[in-house]
Amino acid sequence: EKVVLAYSGGLDTSIIIHWLIENYDYEVIAVCGDVGQGKETEGLEERAKKAGASKLYIADLKEEYVKDYIFPTLKAGAVYEGKYLLGTSHARPIIAKKLVEIAKKEGAVAICHGATGKGNDQVRFELTIKALAPELKIIAPWRVWDIKSREDAVDYAEKNGIEIPVTKKDLYSRDRNVWHISHEGMDLEDPWNEPQLDNLLKLTTPPEKAPDTPKYITVGFEKGEPVSIDGKNYSPLALVEELNKIGGEYGIGIADIVEDRLVGMKSRGVYETPGGTILYAAHDELEYLCLDRDTQAFKRQAAIKFAELVYDGKWFTPLREALSAFVDSTQQTVTGEVKLKLYKGHISPAGAKSKYSLYNEDIASFGDSHELYSHKDAEGFINLFGLPLKVRALMNEKNKNN
Ligand code: ARG
Ligand code: SIN
Repeated sequence: EKVVLAYSGGLDTSIIIHWLIENYDYEVIAVCGDVGQGKETEGLEERAKKAGASKLYIADLKEEYVKDYIFPTLKAGAVYEGKYLLGTSHARPIIAKKLVEIAKKEGAVAICHGATGKGNDQVRFELTIKALAPELKIIAPWRVWDIKSREDAVDYAEKNGIEIPVTKKDLYSRDRNVWHISHEGMDLEDPWNEPQLDNLLKLTTPPEKAPDTPKYITVGFEKGEPVSIDGKNYSPLALVEELNKIGGEYGIGIADIVEDRLVGMKSRGVYETPGGTILYAAHDELEYLCLDRDTQAFKRQAAIKFAELVYDGKWFTPLREALSAFVDSTQQTVTGEVKLKLYKGHISPAGAKSKYSLYNEDIASFGDSHELYSHKDAEGFINLFGLPLKVRALMNEKNKNN
């Protein structure tokens, strides 16, 4: 029987291959879903096979990830707990979907992942597997075996003659993809500690060290999706990569948060999302121009729910899909250009325009009267709008007197 394993080439997933064969006698099909981890995929096949896998699939998911997971979340304006742009959260369902696809193709009976029993990722992987292939068994070694630490893992590898991948021992727990990099653990575990940005950051210049002169950029959108930078068109992936470069140089997109994990505990993380932070800011500015008040207000409430769904791994659910349909309907007129000023970690809006702009200078400007707006109309409007207040005040008055 076959098992499909989410494989990264790191220490954990290398020993998992051996452990699966030893404990379950499975044939192990390793799958590396590439969402932009930025690790060498060269030599990965050889390494997987050396560890005991019968096969390695490398799936380039980057373009699909940006187009079908990141952009829908961006259009929704979804931000978890006010700060987190969900970079790890929406990478899990696309990887799990790939695992399911390959499991079906290979006729595997189980899927195995290397997420720990303490985190969110296990939930995200498994909810997706349940949604797409309810018949598949799920194996999460970290919830089963006796290995408790990195040291245990190294011991296991040495005892069983598994070649330990020569990676620099990274002290922080990190997760990187085309959208972001997350940092957890070490000194960050005490929320009183200021993050040591010089040691920590991988994508972003610490704001103090960013250039002394601001940079202006213009982002173009079509139906809520970013399509251009400074008038030049980009594919979704290339656009995010380009903005990561620019944002990173100017110190944009560092978020420091004590967040609530789905499994109940609070956990402290620092995120770098340089390009993403630019895109959320630009998209927001365009919506101020193009969305009516009621839609905008309702959409902001929906965004909170959308973020929770993504964080909780409920991507393949009726509510997430229905919310996306709502969002897409609102985005029909979110087309135009937004100018931003980037300066030492800050983004300032510097202009926005759209052929669907609901802003009407003639009506808005003070002074001149306009055929669509008469000052006199305001009197009657306020009389009716304020009627309930007046009625209540009169009632209070009457009761005071008796
Ligand atoms: N706390 C973030 C989240 O739940 C990031 C998790 C990072 N995952 C990891 N395997 N290092 O989305
Ligand atoms: C893990 O526990 O595997 C990483 C952290 C998380 O999933 O929240």
